[in-house]
Amino acid sequence: MRSYRDFHRESIDAPEDFWRREASRIHWETPFDTVLDRSNPPFARWFCGGRTNLCYNAVDRHLATRAQQNALVYVSTETGIESQYTYAELHAEVNRMAAVMRSLGVKRGERVLIYLPMIPEAVFAMLACARLGAIHSVVFGGFAAPSLAARIDDAKPVLIVSADAGARGGRVIDYTPLVDEAMSRAQHAPQKVLLIDRKLAPNRVKASYFVDYEPLREQYSDAQIPCEWLESNEPSYILYTSGTTGKPKGVQRDVGGYAVALAASMEYIFEGRAGDTMFTASDIGWVVGHSYIIYAPLLAGMTTVMYEGTPIRPDGGIWWRLVEQYRINLMFTAPTAIRVLKKQDPALLRAADLSSLRTLFLAGEPLDEPTASWISDALGKPVVDNYWQTETGWPMLAIQRGVEALPQKLGSPGVPVYGYGLTLRDENTGEPCATGEKGVITIDYPLPPGCMQTVWGDDARFVKTYWESVPGHQVYSTFDWGVQDTEGYVTILGRTDDVINVAGHRLGTREIEEAISSHASVAEVAVVGVEDALKGQAALAFVVLRDANAAADPAAAKTLEASIAATVDRNLGAIGRPARVHFVAMLPKTRSGKLLRRAIAALAEGHDPGDLPTIEDASALEQIREAVANRAA
Ligand code: PRX
Repeated sequence: MRSYRDFHRESIDAPEDFWRREASRIHWETPFDTVLDRSNPPFARWFCGGRTNLCYNAVDRHLATRAQQNALVYVSTETGIESQYTYAELHAEVNRMAAVMRSLGVKRGERVLIYLPMIPEAVFAMLACARLGAIHSVVFGGFAAPSLAARIDDAKPVLIVSADAGARGGRVIDYTPLVDEAMSRAQHAPQKVLLIDRKLAPNRVKASYFVDYEPLREQYSDAQIPCEWLESNEPSYILYTSGTTGKPKGVQRDVGGYAVALAASMEYIFEGRAGDTMFTASDIGWVVGHSYIIYAPLLAGMTTVMYEGTPIRPDGGIWWRLVEQYRINLMFTAPTAIRVLKKQDPALLRAADLSSLRTLFLAGEPLDEPTASWISDALGKPVVDNYWQTETGWPMLAIQRGVEALPQKLGSPGVPVYGYGLTLRDENTGEPCATGEKGVITIDYPLPPGCMQTVWGDDARFVKTYWESVPGHQVYSTFDWGVQDTEGYVTILGRTDDVINVAGHRLGTREIEEAISSHASVAEVAVVGVEDALKGQAALAFVVLRDANAAADPAAAKTLEASIAATVDRNLGAIGRPARVHFVAMLPKTRSGKLLRRAIAALAEGHDPGDLPTIEDASALEQIREAVANRAA
């Protein structure tokens, strides 16, 4: 058995040797000449000169040995559809989709925006982009039209791929009105929207730019589209994520580094092998979906299970029955899903044959101890917490069981992953923290392969946001607080910025505030995250109204709260809807007018806000305290 410590040290001391070896996991059409180009920090370029293709590595390469093995198992408890695609069938579908996209003008280096529910065509579309060398930008189906329009304008796609509708919890969500509104709002709307008609929305919007996929798929049913060999550092995709400002950042990723990093993670972190079946219950709109529903399992020659639905419909045993039915070996989800399942009848879990399952992986938000203990006892299998971000694309902290099965410590996602020079630093001096001291989690230059290359179209923002926030040191900031113990285990202590995490979904409080501000009655608003037993965090909004009397009586306040929630649904999407809207006469601010967010969040959670900078009017704090107390009563 390898020693974790030596393995990690080698990856940091001799990254070129380490990653040259790992690079042999994928096919290179042309070998690279330089493993790592450090000539322009903080930018790093991996496997320079090498030419490869993500789709080739995920699909074509397996045809010789596993053409008849399932590549994709699809289950929708919303529509009742279950289907399976072998690697040969996946190859055919991806070729058809690539041919259709090409016929609509998609070329290498151009963007394709994918706004789709969890359907197999989403996988085909992403892989088809990779095949053509086009850059996909998947936008989570829960985002509303203005958010979609903002992403269209940033990515400037030549094509959008969408569907008539999504479905969640038995409710159909029409997509075409959203797409239509986004198309008219956007400055850079593409000419065409390729539409997958699931026949769920009989009254779908009929606009001239919609092109139905099905007849084109028929037309190109025998198409063979060659893979574009891309230089390792050409972009593979853009994925927008939230930060401190209201404007989402387009995280841009490369081709070769991403393929190598994911393939290596499959062995060292996930212990997944070719022929295994992996079920990642996430969404293609998030990074976990990109990396561990689609690319990593397919790169490794595994079967991936894609699921549309909730974990409790038709009942709370559905996921466990899928494990039994498809002999699932690896499962990956967010702690919120486990907290939801914990409330279900335990007999549902015990009724299923879970003998195929080896490990459950959890990521995206803190894993609390009661949830961790409950699920590891109930399953009797290892539960592996892992910590990472959209920006990194694959785990930064984990027990790397494929390297060395170090013991777990409840409350910690584990130790730094190979490749990451992870250091906790003092927020004021930038110096490394002493053991046990709280600091900002940072990564030393260079980021390992697979991490973000830059912010799409904005190198300056990439440098300024991520590499210049720790004083005196050019290191990558995760914007997470942590603390490290003597054995190297890190515990996450929350974000340093205004990002919150609701049910494993990353949201910017500024984005929610912007949505709320557009409501005609709202003068000012502050949104903060507070602890929530089920979702990890919940968003609370504190609103100052233009007319203070508008919410004077409880009935009026209730109506106003509902109409503010509806504004958020329309502008950002229901995922951003605050759990509560409190009306106050003023918000606590410093004398220079800066909102005291941390103080608001502390008060909202019932804590003492601690030492405060000079505050403009201390009674504002009292109002927050009262608003929360009154509503709780
Ligand atoms: O705050 C950390 C939290 O989620 C953030 C990243 O969210 P996102 O970009 O959506 O990527 C999720 C990829 C799994 C982090 O900055 N976070 C993620 N994983 C954990 C976590 N917090 C605690 N424990 C984790 N395992």
